[in-house]
Order: sequence, then C-alpha cells, then structure tokens
Amino acid sequence: MSTVLDQIEQQIAKLSTKAVKKNTGNIRTIADGVAKIDGLSDVMYNEMVAFPGGAIGIALNLEETEVGCVILGDVSKLKEGDEVTTTGKLLSVPVGKALLGRVVDALGNAVDGKGPIDAKETYPVERIAPGIMARKSVNQPLFTGIMAIDSMIPIGRGQRELIIGDRGTGKTTIAIDTIINQAKINKVGLASGDAKFRPVYSIYVAIGQKSSNIVRTVAALEAAGALEYTIIVAATAADNPANQYIAPYSGAAMGEWFMENGMDALIVYDDLSKHAVAYRQISLILKRPSGREAYPGDVFYLHSRLLERAARLDGKGSLTALPIIETLAGDVSAYIPTNVISITDGQIFLETDLFNQGIRPAVSVGLSVSRVGSSAQIKATKQVGGKLKGELAQFRELAAFAQFGSDLDAKTKAQLERGARIVELFKQPAFSPAAIELQVSILFAMQKGFFDPIDAKKVVAAAANMKNFFTTRKDALLTEIRNKAALDKDLEAKLQAACDEWKSGYTA
Ligand SMILES: Nc1ncnc2c1ncn2[C@@H]1O[C@H](COP(=O)(O)OP(=O)(O)O)[C@@H](O)[C@H]1O
Ligand SMILES: [Mg+2]
Repeated sequence: MSTVLDQIEQQIAKLSTKAVKKNTGNIRTIADGVAKIDGLSDVMYNEMVAFPGGAIGIALNLEETEVGCVILGDVSKLKEGDEVTTTGKLLSVPVGKALLGRVVDALGNAVDGKGPIDAKETYPVERIAPGIMARKSVNQPLFTGIMAIDSMIPIGRGQRELIIGDRGTGKTTIAIDTIINQAKINKVGLASGDAKFRPVYSIYVAIGQKSSNIVRTVAALEAAGALEYTIIVAATAADNPANQYIAPYSGAAMGEWFMENGMDALIVYDDLSKHAVAYRQISLILKRPSGREAYPGDVFYLHSRLLERAARLDGKGSLTALPIIETLAGDVSAYIPTNVISITDGQIFLETDLFNQGIRPAVSVGLSVSRVGSSAQIKATKQVGGKLKGELAQFRELAAFAQFGSDLDAKTKAQLERGARIVELFKQPAFSPAAIELQVSILFAMQKGFFDPIDAKKVVAAAANMKNFFTTRKDALLTEIRNKAALDKDLEAKLQAACDEWKSGYTA
C-alpha cells in the first residue's frame, strides 16, 4: 500500500507546476508578406517566429489580441490557420569575411548559386548604435576616386554622406565607383607590405531594384576585380516588402562585424526611398497610423537608427555609409529626402540638367557639402584643390553674367576660361575611378595653367592623355605622392618637370 502512495507522491513531485509558456499561435490573416497571428502571447518585439516550411517572421506589432509579423522568405504556401511558433531569438544574420564576394538575400542566405556560406558568427540585425563616448572623430580619408568629390566634397571613414538626385543621374554609378576604388586601393596597399595599411571592405545593399540592375552591378564589380572585397545584399523589387525593409539592417550588421573587429568598411544603401516605401506598405497593412505623404510617423527614426550605426570607433574600426535617395523632379524638400539630409553629414547632389548636358558625374557644386570630411582630406589635395569650389562657384556666376554679351575684361575672361576647363577636367566616365595621387597630379597641372592653352572642347582628351602619361611613365612619382600625401618643394619641382615633359610631347 505504502509503495503505491510513494509512487503517487513521486509522480506528483515530478509534475512541473510552472505554467507552460504559450509560444505557439495561428495565422489569422495573411497578405503582402504581413501576417496577423492569434495567440503568441509571449513573443518579444522584433523576435523571430517560425512559420511552416521554413519562412521566418519578425514580430513588429504586439497588440492585445494579435501579433503583426512581417515574413521573410517564401510566403506563397502559407495560409490562414497555419501554426506559428516563437523562437526566443532576435533576427540575426551571418557575418564575417566568408561573405565577401557573395550575393545574399536579406537573411544572409546565398542567392548566387555558389553554394552555402561558411560563416562562423552571426550578428543581430537590429543593434543600438555606438554612443558618443565610443566614437572617434572622422580624420581618415575614404577616397571615392571621383575627382569632383575627392577634391571638393571629401569623405572620411565613419562618415555618412548622402547621394541624392533624380532617377538616372548616376547615383548608383558613384557608389559603385567608390566600391571599385576601394578594391584598387586595397590591392595596391596590401601588395606594398605596409603594416599600417587599412583596407576597406564594401557592402552594397540593393533595395527594391530590378534584378537585371543588380546583375549588372555584380558584373561591373566582378569585371573591375572588386567583387572579392564586396558583399552584396539584394532585396529586389520582386521580393516582398519585408525583405526590402530588413535588408539595410542586415547589411549594417555585416558592416558592424568589420568595424567591431578593427577593420574599415563601407556600406551603400541603394536606395532608402524604396526602403521607406516598403516600410510604408508594411505599416499600412499593419494599420499603423500614417502621417505626412502616408508614411508612418516613425519613418524618420527608421532611417536615423540605421545611419547612426555608421561610426568610427575608438580603438576599433569604422563603418562609412553612403545612403542613396531618389528625388522626383529635383525636389529635395519632400518628406523622405529632408529626413535623410538631416540625418547625414552632408550630401552629394546630382543634377539632371548637368547630366543631360554631358557633365558627368553630374555633381552640383553649389548644393553638395561634406560637413566632416575635410579634416580627413590629405594635404596634397588641399594644396592643389583648396580653391576649386570657389573658382567653380565664381565661374557659374560669371558665366550667367557673360551671357549678356557685354565686353569682358581680361581677368574675367581668364576666370571664365579656367572655370570651363575645370568643368571639363571633372568629367569622368563610369567605372573608372582615379587614384588620389593621379587626381593631385592633374589638378596640379590645371593650377599651373597647363590646360589653359588647350581648347576647352579638347580638355577631356588632353586630361586622358595626361593620366595615361602619368600612370605609364611616372609611376615612381605617383607612388611618392601617395606615400607623402603632401607636396613639398621637391615633389612640386618633380611634378612641374613631369608636366613640362608631357606638354612637350602632346599636341592637341
Ligand atoms: N560618369 C558617367 N559617365 C557616363 N555615363 C554615366 C556616368 N554615370 C552614370 N552614367 C550612366 O547613366 C545611367 C544612369 O546611371 P545610374 O547610376 O544607374 O543612375 P541612378 O542610380 O541615379 O538611377 C547609366 O546608364 C550609367 O551608365
Ligand atoms: Mg540607381
């Protein structure tokens, strides 16, 4: 008898009286990659939830009777009533160098057919941005390879510089050029054996773009030998809005890995206009209240918490961000453009008019600024390019005036002639970034008047010829400029001699 009682007592002791967490629920409604779920009473904000068939959701709206989730992955097989379970984990993505050279989706899964990615670590997609104390001021350059930008709107490591302009004004091209330039610098720097050299790794996040465009971008990077230093995170226009919403945060997490591990990285968000649209779509389905231009009120916070993650960390590395915004008819005062302008450290404004006139890259000198980058600019560029912005501004003013056909004095005429030549010198084809030492040499020649006797229409050809002359014949001089990063008397004399040599052999 007592043994039976003992057995019962033992059974009772084994019973767990702890309430079992309710961590399963069912889909109530599902549409456009957003599901409303009954019964997930224990879910955390931003927690991953698992759907049947491997799709992953993120809990965004926690309400009294239901949970609103966005779904990443294939939603086509999900239906009302399907069971959903919490995972207890925040969304995270693979990080590390194994991702370089690869194209991944918003969750970090390979989509390039090159097999699985052997990443050792994961980072959460959402992270609190570094505080002020952890940050260090921006004072190391990040060269875009685009003369108009490096000389007048310099960018530093850890900076956030917006690229803004209408569709088809060359925004993506500037970002890709910058990535290609990093790869070129990496190759030279790593080959030099300089222990202090810091390579820059790139992450290109494509948001809401056509697949064909992404394919073209990958091909351009590969052709330029830049893919091996680059991670591409792709959420195409065909992907559901949830993927487009998450992709930039996934990319940021991948960039943070480099920064946290003492390396430098560059991240391009192409583009945040489409990101905002994806977020608006999600929010409207979740029935969040909408505000200006029907965007939800927290769209500003959405972008600021993303861009705040770019930083230069004391004792660690840096993450430089180039967000892209597409404007309509050059309107920078629309809601999303003004938001992102206010969050970034400056903007590169591209003008449709300039682009159509053949002035490419179509950088507007007057409307573009870099608020922190000049402290990162090397001395040599300051020496040869310090006056450029003023000279160009003056040129624009005088050119408008000169249209009235009044007689011009010699000085004004000279200023106009010089300005016209600077505009020509800044023309640069797509995917051909110029090394900073080459930029310095060309600008030196310009300041010393070597292009003045050449017809303005022939300046592009002359500059191309000079670039070729320097790269093929003056390699030692270029290397010296790169290493010294400043022009002393000796280097100036050598540059002058090289320009004279070029001039004697060149006929326009
Ligand atoms: N510097 C340039 N020189 C010549 N063509 C360019 C230049 N920059 C861009 N383009 C061309 O202009 C078109 C639009 O450029 P893209 O970068 O895709 O613009 P966006 O991203 O602003 O829509 C592309 O065909 C591109 O090759
Ligand atoms: Mg583009």
